[in-house]
Amino acid sequence: MSAQNSIKRITAPEISARKGNDPIVCLTAYDAPTAAILDDFCDLILVGDSVGMVVHGLTTTVGVTLEMMILHGQAVMRGSKKALVVVDLPFGYYEDSPERAFHSAARVMRETGCQAIKIESGSYAAETIAYLVERGIPVMSHVGLRPQSMNVLGGFRARGRNPKVADEIVENAIAAAEAGSFAVVVEGVSAEIADKVTSAVSIPTIGIGASAGCDGQILVTPDMLGMFSRVPKFVKKYADMQELVRESVESYAKDVKSRKFPGKENTYKFS
Ligand code: KIV
Repeated sequence: MSAQNSIKRITAPEISARKGNDPIVCLTAYDAPTAAILDDFCDLILVGDSVGMVVHGLTTTVGVTLEMMILHGQAVMRGSKKALVVVDLPFGYYEDSPERAFHSAARVMRETGCQAIKIESGSYAAETIAYLVERGIPVMSHVGLRPQSMNVLGGFRARGRNPKVADEIVENAIAAAEAGSFAVVVEGVSAEIADKVTSAVSIPTIGIGASAGCDGQILVTPDMLGMFSRVPKFVKKYADMQELVRESVESYAKDVKSRKFPGKENTYKFS
């Protein structure tokens, strides 16, 4: 047995079986060192296409490419050992046909070694989800606020104020579950809608800005670590990394300006 085979990761069916049980802990990661820390605490690590915004400085996720997702997926796989790693399929690589979705997803799985993919799931998605699952690709769906559709939705706003839209969100989640998704992310909806989805589907719901009634929660890691001054209002900041990084870099700059580099104790000695 190779070293890789001896490492036991959480599987998609194991996450699926946690419906209604112990809450599922999920966060996003984009690099190996962060993934290594998250791996000690998270059941599921998502390599989200939020990488475009929180790492690459894009204003939306629309410009993210499959190659970017593969690069970050590889890093997260190297950094983690235990968590289920799910990689987002980015905008434009899966929506128009199940075949295209399969080729994109298979490439991501083959080149990163991740165990599942996530797609944002409008009403068109059920056929694609069934097609992928039948061909060996575990799928996590994503309903409610779907950031890849922000140009149609008019921005990153909570969804479902209109009762028709609220019903559509519940219907999309049911269709995604019936098509074979192992879990569904429910983003930016009221607690009432999130609770409706959670009781309507037999798979775990992973809330983001949704409800404590979901089966688990996911946050964008740089948001909860306080890397940005502005974050969505539902995000609890667990640290102020922006301040910590600023203070550290300021101290470093002062050291360099006063020629305190490297400290005597850190220099090489060749005796
Ligand atoms: O891309 C991402 O980080 C996501 C989460 C917000 C669920 O899809």
